[in-house]
Amino acid sequence: MYPLRRNRRLRTNESIRNLVRETIISPKDFLVPLFVAEGKGIKEEIASMPDYYRLSLDYLATEVKELWNMGLHAVLLFVKVPDDLKDNRGTEALNDDGLMQRAIKTVKDACPGMLVMTDVAMDPYSSFGHDGIVENGEIINDETTVFLAEMSVSHAMAGADFVAPSDMMDGRILSIREALEDEGLVNTGIMSYSAKYASAFYGPFRDALDSAPVDVKNVPKDKNTYQMDFANRFEALKETEMDIDEGADIVMVKPGLCYLDIVREIRNEVDVPVAVYQVSGEYAMVKAAAEKGWLDHDAVVMEQLTAMKRAGANIIASYFAKDAVRLLG
Ligand code: PBG
Repeated sequence: MYPLRRNRRLRTNESIRNLVRETIISPKDFLVPLFVAEGKGIKEEIASMPDYYRLSLDYLATEVKELWNMGLHAVLLFVKVPDDLKDNRGTEALNDDGLMQRAIKTVKDACPGMLVMTDVAMDPYSSFGHDGIVENGEIINDETTVFLAEMSVSHAMAGADFVAPSDMMDGRILSIREALEDEGLVNTGIMSYSAKYASAFYGPFRDALDSAPVDVKNVPKDKNTYQMDFANRFEALKETEMDIDEGADIVMVKPGLCYLDIVREIRNEVDVPVAVYQVSGEYAMVKAAAEKGWLDHDAVVMEQLTAMKRAGANIIASYFAKDAVRLLG
C-alpha cells in the first residue's frame, strides 16, 4: 500500500509551514557587536566588512538608539586603540577614562536600558596583537589573567552589565569573578568565550581593530597556543564546563557556522545559556558572494541565523542583526 504518512502534507503552503515551523528567530535573540573609534563624526566603513563601520562616540550614541528602537537590546563593544597607546601589557585598557570606558558610558547615557557587554582581551591594546603578555616568545598565562580581572573591574565600574572575556587564558573566569566579587560588583555577569577556536575567520575583525599579531622576531605569529584546535570536540566541552565551574553565567562557541556541531553538543550538556558568534569572516563571505551576485544575501543570512538557533544557540552575536530585524519585518 502507498505510505500512510506523507511528509509533504505539512509543506503544502505557507500557512501550514508557518504553523509547524520548529525554529523562529526574533530580535530578542541577538547581540550586536559594535566597533568604536576615537574622534568625532567618524563613521568609517571596514574594508573587509562592507556596510559595517567603526563609530566615534557621537555616532555610537545614535546607533544604539536606532538599535533600541528596532528591538535590538544588547550590544557587545570593541574598541580600536590608537597605535601610540599600545604596549606589551595592555596598559591603556586599565585607563578608567579610556575609549572603552567612555563608550560604555555613552551607550548607557544614550540608551539606559541597553544591555552592555564588553570585550575583555588584551589584543586591541597589545603592541604585539596578542591576547596576553608576550615574554620570551610565549604568551604568559597567569599574569595575563590578573590583567583581565583588572580590566573587567574597570569595565564594570564604568557601567558594563556583562564582561565578555575572549582571550582563552586558563583560569581567567575565576580570576575575573573573584575580582568582581571583591569590588562588590556582584551583579556584573560574565559571558565567557569558552570554546573559542583558532580560526582564519577572524581576519576581517583584525582589520577592523588593526589587532592582528605582528610579524616580529620572538613573537608567535598565530594564537594557536591559547585558542583551540579546530579539529577538537571533547576539548570544547572541557573548556566550557571549566568556565561554568569558575563562574561563567553565559558560555559561547566561536566561530558559528563551522562549529554548530559544538553548539548542539554544549547545549545538550550544560544548564546555562549558550551563545554563538557568527564572526567577521562569515559575514565577509556572505557579503562578497552577494556582491558578485552568486548568492541571495537576505536568504542566506536568514538561513544561517536560523541554523544557529536550531543548533541550540540561545544568543546569537552577529553583524547581520539589523538585517535580520529588517527581514523579520
Ligand atoms: C580577540 C577577538 C577576536 C574576535 C573577537 N575577539 C579575534 C581574535 O581572537 O583574534 C573575533 C570576532 C570576529 O572575527 O568577528 N580577543
